[in-house]
Amino acid sequence: MAPVPSSPIKVGHIDDVQELRKAKPTTIPERFVRDMNERPTLAIALPSLSDIPIINFSRLVNGSKDDYQTESLQLARACKEWGFFQVINHGINLSLIESIEEVAKNFFMLPLEEKQKYPMAPGTVQGYGQAFVFSEDQKLDWCNMFALGIEPPYIRNPKLWPIKPTKFGETVDVYSREVRKLCQNLLKYIAMTLGLKADIFEEMFGVAVQAIRMNYYPPCSRPDLVLGLSPHSDGSALTVLQQGNGSSVGLQILKDNKWVPVQPIPNALVINIGDTLEVLTNGKYKSVEHRAVTHKEKDRLSIVTFYAPSYEIELGPMPELVDEKNPCNYRRYTHGEYNKHYVTNKLQGKKTLEFAKIKRNTSTV
Ligand code: OGA
Ligand code: NI
Repeated sequence: MAPVPSSPIKVGHIDDVQELRKAKPTTIPERFVRDMNERPTLAIALPSLSDIPIINFSRLVNGSKDDYQTESLQLARACKEWGFFQVINHGINLSLIESIEEVAKNFFMLPLEEKQKYPMAPGTVQGYGQAFVFSEDQKLDWCNMFALGIEPPYIRNPKLWPIKPTKFGETVDVYSREVRKLCQNLLKYIAMTLGLKADIFEEMFGVAVQAIRMNYYPPCSRPDLVLGLSPHSDGSALTVLQQGNGSSVGLQILKDNKWVPVQPIPNALVINIGDTLEVLTNGKYKSVEHRAVTHKEKDRLSIVTFYAPSYEIELGPMPELVDEKNPCNYRRYTHGEYNKHYVTNKLQGKKTLEFAKIKRNTSTV
């Protein structure tokens, strides 16, 4: 019998949303139209923007003892109750925040043929295209993505680093170094809010894995029918998200079963807890489901950095956070195993984390 050729993943035709928008501004192909229960209902307007915690980073680093204590409590509350916060005075130069946005935007504005020189192969997550698509009937996100592995150097794929815009590679490198420092520092302060020693994560993570993803959401004539990005939690330990200046409100987080919009604060960075930190803290700090919605007239850009332990690192709840009252809720596995699981499944709320959960018999006796 002739050997059966192993078939690659069949994802069908994937429209490039920017091209679609240019050619047929009011057409929404069926593959983008969400089932009723997934459509974005009008986001609940919050009484005030300050509900999503804001952390003044400079008060943690340079503040008086009182400043530090107040801010640290705020950080603990943000991690425990929200899983999301915005950082102001984060120490990253405004000019760098502006340049990364400029090169990202200029990249997305290039002709399609130019961007397609760096294609994201089906089933992989680096390059230009749509990640997390695994079947022909899966709904698609109203978004173009470009992603690159940054650290450790062996995850870099030099063929996928764009030549245009000319400053792209250099800017991504400089920006990523700064964001890496910010992640390392934030993790120190987060460790201290848990009563752990400051360097615990740094020592545990090895040479941390870092990746960058740029998301470009063109306007959409029917924002009520589509999603910019499907609901998911991030597989990282921490995620740092920069929203383009003047972008429409697009990011929403699921809080108490309601989708809450994250109002952009100029030059602030949005930080969120990823699945890895949830597991390490035995669920004390949880990753939070989030999604992106689109806007009728405005486009939106986000630049997202994922920071996680080295792939060979074995993870599981830290012994300091497990006791009789807080039994161990997650099993042990390596970050490489989790990453593989994460990137080979479609984005589906917090479902990916089921991989790590210890299932208990919850029946009451
Ligand atoms: C992500 C993400 C949201 C956004 O890339 O993981 O959640 O607003 N992005 O682009
Ligand atoms: Ni995310």
